[in-house]
Amino acid sequence: MDTLTVKPGSPLRGRTKVPGDKSISHRSLLLGMLANGKTEIRGWLAAGDTEATLGAVRALGVQVDRHDTHTLTVHGGMLKPPDAPLGFINAGTGIRLAAGIMAGQSFPSTLDGSYQLRRRPMKRITNPLQEMGAKITSTNGKCPLNIEPTQLKGFRYEMPMASAQVKSAVLLAGLFADGETTVIQPGSARDHTEIMLKAMGADIQVDGKEITVKSGSELQAMDLTVPGDFSSAAFLIVAGLIIPNSDLTIEGVNLNPTRTGLLDVLLEMGAKIEVTETATEAGERVGDIRVQYSELSGIEIGGDTVVRMIDEFPVLMVAALYSDGETVVRDAKELRVKETDRIAVMAQELRKLGATIEEREDGFRIVGRQNLTGFTVDGHDDHRVAMSLTIAGLLADEMTVITDAQCASDSFPGFADTLQNLGGRMLEQPIN
Ligand code: S3P
Repeated sequence: MDTLTVKPGSPLRGRTKVPGDKSISHRSLLLGMLANGKTEIRGWLAAGDTEATLGAVRALGVQVDRHDTHTLTVHGGMLKPPDAPLGFINAGTGIRLAAGIMAGQSFPSTLDGSYQLRRRPMKRITNPLQEMGAKITSTNGKCPLNIEPTQLKGFRYEMPMASAQVKSAVLLAGLFADGETTVIQPGSARDHTEIMLKAMGADIQVDGKEITVKSGSELQAMDLTVPGDFSSAAFLIVAGLIIPNSDLTIEGVNLNPTRTGLLDVLLEMGAKIEVTETATEAGERVGDIRVQYSELSGIEIGGDTVVRMIDEFPVLMVAALYSDGETVVRDAKELRVKETDRIAVMAQELRKLGATIEEREDGFRIVGRQNLTGFTVDGHDDHRVAMSLTIAGLLADEMTVITDAQCASDSFPGFADTLQNLGGRMLEQPIN
């Protein structure tokens, strides 16, 4: 179990990049394997979660050439029956999207993951897939998932929760179903699947909250450069805002509006943030984000904004602790079924640093300008928890030790190095 020790007190300054977007990296493999021809991927995220999906794609007989750590060629086309269960380790996106694809194949498969993934709900995908006729069974609503071949039929699905993973599983199954498959989403869940499917030539229509895919048109391989992950940038953004004298710029970040809810929230809290759009890559907006230390004020968050910043609440909790007044989050019950119950785990660990946090069933309330004292906290094998606690430690009175911090590399390999290069002080940096 790797440990990270953080010393407080240094501003973060300078320019940096963050690793490739995790959501887009998973999709580039999974859609690339279905497309005709060679999908060339640059800037691919080489991290725990995406390496797991890469392993599963190769286990389906797909040739993937690795030119260097971040540059891959996926030779799409025919999938072959795997010899063993497909293992997704901790990757919720990997297993849920792959389940939609595997439900439409002509051979059986089993999809499984780590002890952590085995705790996460899978009925949210098995229910709609079964309505499409899929022969998919879970183990008490969790993985392993067992899938038998069958012909799927298109249907109209009103999603009970705003989840990009559920939406994507159904749309991907729709590629193999008879007729049309329509998903109606209650909120603006990230739309990378729709964007990539369109770029690859799928017959897909987006009409407000309704997305319809028709089977029959073959996907065509594409070249893509994966932009930097906004969810990784979020840790640096919050750190820059709360540590006095900080001034940093993160280059080449994905600015897809279904992902940047945190920016809107922080701007409303009084953050000094400048965004410069520089490019469009594979239908995704990309740009640089400059952040300067700011006096933040608390905020109330609920409704559609929640889904647009769903992965950023652990680090928002840290920002709230250093803001004036109170921050209240509602409608965020989904946080309880992420890699961990992120409301409970973050409250528990931040309390060890002396924080006062009111936990609520669907969110939390934090009254700001609290003083944290350094202590030992645990990352709980949840990358976003470990990285949020590290950011909290950069402002605590004493050193903070984060145990189980190696999980940061599930999404942000080099996290500690990046902080250190910007001026953050780490006593050890074993996570890479
Ligand atoms: C993801 C969707 C989100 C997000 C996860 C990545 C994706 O999950 O929390 O980190 O790539 O589709 P849900 O769709 O379950 O909300």
